[in-house]
Amino acid sequence: MQHLISTAQFKTLDEVLSLFHLAESQRERKEADFLLNRVVGLVFHERSTRTRCSFEAATYKAGGKVIFEGIETSSAGKGETLEDTVRTISQYCDLLVIRQDRSGVLGPVATKSACPVINGGDGNNEHPTQALLDLYTVWRKKPDLNFTIMFCGDLADGRPVHSWINLIKNLKLPVKVYLNPAGGMDLTPQWKTALGPHTMVAHQETQRFLPSTDVLYMTRVQSERKNSNNTASGFMLRPGDYARNLKQDALVMHPLPRNGEIHPDCDTDPRSMYHTEQVTNGLYLRMALMNQMINGQMYQK
Ligand code: NCD
Repeated sequence: MQHLISTAQFKTLDEVLSLFHLAESQRERKEADFLLNRVVGLVFHERSTRTRCSFEAATYKAGGKVIFEGIETSSAGKGETLEDTVRTISQYCDLLVIRQDRSGVLGPVATKSACPVINGGDGNNEHPTQALLDLYTVWRKKPDLNFTIMFCGDLADGRPVHSWINLIKNLKLPVKVYLNPAGGMDLTPQWKTALGPHTMVAHQETQRFLPSTDVLYMTRVQSERKNSNNTASGFMLRPGDYARNLKQDALVMHPLPRNGEIHPDCDTDPRSMYHTEQVTNGLYLRMALMNQMINGQMYQK
């Protein structure tokens, strides 16, 4: 059985590049039928717009059908465990995408599944397909993957950044990382250790570090995961930053949703990837990933 629970399962750059190349051919071919007569189950016990719709669209474009198990109507509300839900739904499906709010539980839960499982986001832990589509977006613009990235916002509880860190580490990407957390929301020691020697701290010196940033990765405060009503806002990106501080070929990324970290007047700048290329690339990347998993590509434990 093959599952994608963590980006730490990718051990070499070649593995990831083969996924990117498959996404490219998917984009060129336009038509696909590798999910014909197959059912993809979306078990989403947390809110989602992009990840859910992207997997749904990717399934339809590959000829498959979707069943959706959302928290509002789920038997989880009657006390059913996620394990039991997965045991059942996986019998209907050829592939499951699961999003839920507990960190680190999907590895054990996936062992109860009768079909492959993709982690669609587990608590504040990881969001593998988001980081993969992000890296795919960067690779399409900067194929040597030699870049400087600044992670801004909630680095403590924002899961895409954590999946990024595993990719940077495992694929030995030649990147330099600036950390620019919102107040009190720095990476936990576990993730900082994983990141290792790539790091420099840009906190409170954003304007000094922006001109040497190739990829600006903005994130929102994960307020639903905080006990207090933490309204701390970190660095807010404004049109003036594009005019004065950002490189001409910089990429501004955000997994979305945003809560004001990027001023709406920034949206039409061609360097802004969050409403355009990240979204489109996510569709093709998820098609490629499902294709590989359905056709038996193994991801190591
Ligand atoms: C992210 C998530 O759910 O982790 N969103 C997404 O899937 N694109 C980021 C977030 O919710 O802030």
